Amino acid sequence: MNANLIDKNKSQINIVLHEREQMKASRQENTLEKTSPLHIIDKYFSSFVGLTHLKNCMKEIYATKLINDQRASHGLAVEKQVLHMIFTGNPGTGKTTLAREIAATFFRLNLLSKGQFIEAERADLVGEYIGQTAQKTRNLIQQAIGGVLFIDEAYSLARGGEKDFGREAIDTLVKQMEDFSDQFVLILAGYPKEMDRFLQMNPGLASRFPFKHTFADYSVEELMDIALQITMEKQYELTAEASWKLKHYLRKQLAQKERHFANGRCVRNLIEKAIRMQALRLVNQGNYNYNDLLYIDIDDLSFTD
Ligand SMILES: Nc1ncnc2c1ncn2[C@@H]1O[C@H](COP(=O)(O)OP(=O)(O)OP(=O)(O)O)[C@@H](O)[C@H]1O
Ligand SMILES: [Mg+2]
Repeated sequence: MNANLIDKNKSQINIVLHEREQMKASRQENTLEKTSPLHIIDKYFSSFVGLTHLKNCMKEIYATKLINDQRASHGLAVEKQVLHMIFTGNPGTGKTTLAREIAATFFRLNLLSKGQFIEAERADLVGEYIGQTAQKTRNLIQQAIGGVLFIDEAYSLARGGEKDFGREAIDTLVKQMEDFSDQFVLILAGYPKEMDRFLQMNPGLASRFPFKHTFADYSVEELMDIALQITMEKQYELTAEASWKLKHYLRKQLAQKERHFANGRCVRNLIEKAIRMQALRLVNQGNYNYNDLLYIDIDDLSFTD
């Protein structure tokens, strides 16, 4: 490496380290607020960028649980918390990832007895002949007792109209979510427009979900934070130039009108591809040191615009 290159790399390292220090400092600020038991929620959800509404909602639920425990110990009436939720958002906005985290968190907070996460779609609930659907749906709920049942693209249950067995699945869900209201959490997820239409057509269903979360598309800054988060988890770092190239690319993607841009998932895919490109570069290069192994360079980002 010549002297110029070393200097350039040093300044890149400084910039990236600075960003990391900032991230660590803000995390420490959060963890310093140890006076409130609610700081545990910040800790559990610290790897998720944005989503303030959902994080606040988790605090609301945990606070209610803590106070209910106290009320019960004073002999006061306590209402069971019904925690069924609806998630709407475009592809890659974090619906599945967050639902999985909620299952784990509710288990740790003693809001769910087992914390298993069961992901289902139409075919897991809807049968092919009369009587099969109710049984299939009930079986699935039995598996989910103590945890979270996550039904993706929930509107597909209403796909075939009145005579379709999907209707039977919805009716069974409604009955079971009341019968086992505090024993499992049902999360229905899907894309915004389709979900809105589905819920309007099924008002009896919609009113049984006390929590509705909209997962908005991420801004360029948030997507960059997600990239930083993913690289940090994998113990890689982006050089300043790579970081700049990624930001420029994301900005262009978001500016396109007819975009099919999958938010966080797209960022994850870009980073994972870059990691493979870095490996290829290093193997071809033949000799490499600690920094070579750590840094994703501008050339490892293979997109061109
Ligand atoms: N707020 C966030 N913070 C950190 N990473 C995120 C966030 N949102 C999404 N991601 C990343 O994006 C990836 C895709 O998220 P996920 O699969 O949960 O999206 P989704 O909304 O379920 O998409 P789809 O509707 O296509 O199923 C995840 O692997 C995660 O790494
Ligand atoms: Mg998903």
